[in-house]
Amino acid sequence: MAHEDLLEIARDVAREAGELAARLRREGVEVAATKSSPIDIVTAADRATEDLIRSRLADLRPGDGFLGEESGAERGTTGLTWVVDPIDGTVNYLYGLPNWSVSIAVVEGDPDPTTWTALAGAVDAPALGELYTASAGGGAWLEGRPLRVREAVPLDRALVATGFHYTQAIRANQARVAQPLLARVRDLRRAGGAAIDLAYLAAGRLDAYFEQGLNPWDQAAGALLVQEAGGVVRGLDEERPTNRMTIAGSAGVVEELRAALLELGA
Ligand code: IPD
Ligand code: CA
Ligand code: CA
Repeated sequence: MAHEDLLEIARDVAREAGELAARLRREGVEVAATKSSPIDIVTAADRATEDLIRSRLADLRPGDGFLGEESGAERGTTGLTWVVDPIDGTVNYLYGLPNWSVSIAVVEGDPDPTTWTALAGAVDAPALGELYTASAGGGAWLEGRPLRVREAVPLDRALVATGFHYTQAIRANQARVAQPLLARVRDLRRAGGAAIDLAYLAAGRLDAYFEQGLNPWDQAAGALLVQEAGGVVRGLDEERPTNRMTIAGSAGVVEELRAALLELGA
């Protein structure tokens, strides 16, 4: 199937899932359970939204694999896998902050950011009224407008987004790195959703982004947006993003940021 057809599926399913999540938000949200730590939460809406996405994809693309944050992995037979975060930015969603999104991507190969080839992706942010899309070789788009990362600036002029893990031990290390880094950049942002951070980067609203400990579903669609907008997404020592570190932005800023992170022992 052509990338554009896969993109249409990603976009349509993300939009429908975004409408469901937004409706459930209006009806009220409560924490349903905690996961890796007491502050790592899941709501009934996360589960209902992933169920909708999973059943739509099973109808439209039987045979493809699936990897979702809430319902886990299922191998397919086609070599393609849909990588889904039903609500990225769940804490924002719980508190009524607008930075949350539905993130859907389809990748070729194992659903592993260090090896996969992302083919198409959509990040739908209903509370922002923005639906971002990208396909391999087809560019990154926001509602009909082509996206481009900002031109590289020196690190001390760069607006850099990041995020913090739910695990306290990892957070302690993130805080240790963030403190001296703050003095070396224009400013830091912590908006609360990796997918929107990457979408904003693609749209030229940030200069760079880095985060330790991302899962495949946090970055599958967002990383493709950044790459298709002319940016790079990589790890610390590795050329591909790993669970240890994701660094994204225009090539020049990423190089300087990577050097700073290495020096600070990230
Ligand atoms: C989280 C958000 C957050 C990032 C965390 C993610 P969730 O995803 O993307 O910005 O800092 O690393 O786990 O839990 O809201 O889907
Ligand atoms: Ca997430
Ligand atoms: Ca999530």
